[in-house]
Amino acid sequence: MGALLEVADLNAYYGKSHILQGVTFHIEKGEIVSLLGRNGVGRSTTIKAIMGDVRPHGSIKFNGREIAGLKPHQIARLGLGYVPENRDIFPTLTVRQNLLLGQKSSKSTGKWTMEDMFNVFPRLRERAETPAGVLSGGEQQMLTMCRTLMGDPELIMIDEPTEGLAPMMVELVGQLLAEIASRGVSILLVEQKLTIALKISHRLYVMGHGHIVFEGTPAQFAADETVRKEWLEV
Ligand SMILES: Nc1ncnc2c1ncn2[C@@H]1O[C@H](COP(=O)(O)OP(=O)(O)OP(=O)(O)O)[C@@H](O)[C@H]1O
Ligand SMILES: [Mg+2]
Repeated sequence: MGALLEVADLNAYYGKSHILQGVTFHIEKGEIVSLLGRNGVGRSTTIKAIMGDVRPHGSIKFNGREIAGLKPHQIARLGLGYVPENRDIFPTLTVRQNLLLGQKSSKSTGKWTMEDMFNVFPRLRERAETPAGVLSGGEQQMLTMCRTLMGDPELIMIDEPTEGLAPMMVELVGQLLAEIASRGVSILLVEQKLTIALKISHRLYVMGHGHIVFEGTPAQFAADETVRKEWLEV
């Protein structure tokens, strides 16, 4: 058995701008991996290319199967969940309806129930019948993550979930990520801040301009001052 996700020599373009210039990394089953880097280095583009939202050039294997070239909904159905940077909710639908939309119709029983979501985020239970559009930014972020989980992904890719959140919300997001991992779901966490990433990741990648410049454990990363100075600290 190979890796759960295996990305090799991935390139991507916006018009003539060559954004991803040979990105190579992998995620094993059950692993929590963080992708770190400064603004604009191509972290979000990497996830979008994996999901098929941006056209990928190169190889992307999920469970051994080549998925580069498939449509986003086909990729999602294979078990890849994606939580984008912007909070992607249906504002006029209630919290409960948003969560139900995340369920894949073909599956009746997934790893995650609505009750699980409400237990991790009691706030969502209180607001279950409220239109999602009136929730705070942090609550919408949670709702987006929970909706993606309802689709029962094997790997969930989350783009800067703590961006702009109050410390208490950041703590809650950290708890949810730990809960996700404890159920055997693999995580690709895209972050700029190190707070959660260093705490929960098995391995970290740092991205420079369009390619990976570091791979290692949190301990190896902590020991590597050069990488932190050159590629992360602003
Ligand atoms: N739709 C787009 N059209 C043209 N250029 C884009 C588009 N989206 C992103 N870019 C550019 O591609 C580069 C990489 O963007 P990306 O969103 O992947 O960065 P990032 O690492 O996620 O950083 P951040 O989220 O902090 O902006 C940036 O220079 C950005 O300006
Ligand atoms: Mg981004």
